Amino acid sequence: MTKKINIAIDGHSSCGKSTIAKAIARQFGMHYIDSGAMYRAITLYCLENEIIQEKKVNHQKLIACLDAISVTFRFNAEKGESETILNGKNVESAIREHKVSSLVSIVSQIKEVRDKLVVLQREIGEDKAVVMDGRDIGTKVFPNAGLKFFITARAEIRAQRRFDELGDKAVSFQQVLENLKERDEKDSNRAINPLKIAKDAIVIDNSEKTEQEQNELIFKIVKDFFFTYFLF
Ligand code: DC
Repeated sequence: MTKKINIAIDGHSSCGKSTIAKAIARQFGMHYIDSGAMYRAITLYCLENEIIQEKKVNHQKLIACLDAISVTFRFNAEKGESETILNGKNVESAIREHKVSSLVSIVSQIKEVRDKLVVLQREIGEDKAVVMDGRDIGTKVFPNAGLKFFITARAEIRAQRRFDELGDKAVSFQQVLENLKERDEKDSNRAINPLKIAKDAIVIDNSEKTEQEQNELIFKIVKDFFFTYFLF
């Protein structure tokens, strides 16, 4: 039997989880899965189908639609990245817009949404080696992941990085910071699968680290882990 491991990367919003997860996947020939994109896709579906109105989710309507929502990923060979597909439509850029970011926390608090996505995420990780990033990957989705990281950085630094990334400059830095703090609060305090550090996770604060410094540190940890894991 071939040995297969999954790597879980959890942490706060906009701390660079996806950047490091993609880098690990590329470096070690694994598949990268962005679990946050799946929550974002369902949020977009809610917006497009008037399930969210005035910042409130119509729970009954959403639960009734859940089986009709398909969220998958398709590899874009040109970009070398996978893209999020919602009911057959490429929504990779739409799910990154501020209106989705500002509402995704209320959708990701809903038990039925989480149950559906956790099942999908486990299925994806079943037969291939994945690096998955999110909030509950090491604690809930893959509690037996071979390696778990918890990434964080100071809120102001994360907000500045997110602000620089956003094409949509109709949004101010202050709005980005407030949204990020609100999401931290909601992600950490929700009743179901809140964001917390798995007891066997390696914690990395990248506030003062460049991307290269972080990559070097994490690649070394992964390499050492693989060396021991595949040796014995
Ligand atoms: O990683 P992200 O910022 O794209 O995630 C979007 C939202 O989805 C975030 O506010 C919390 C939620 N999320 C979650 O609850 N559980 C996950 N595994 C991934 C994301």
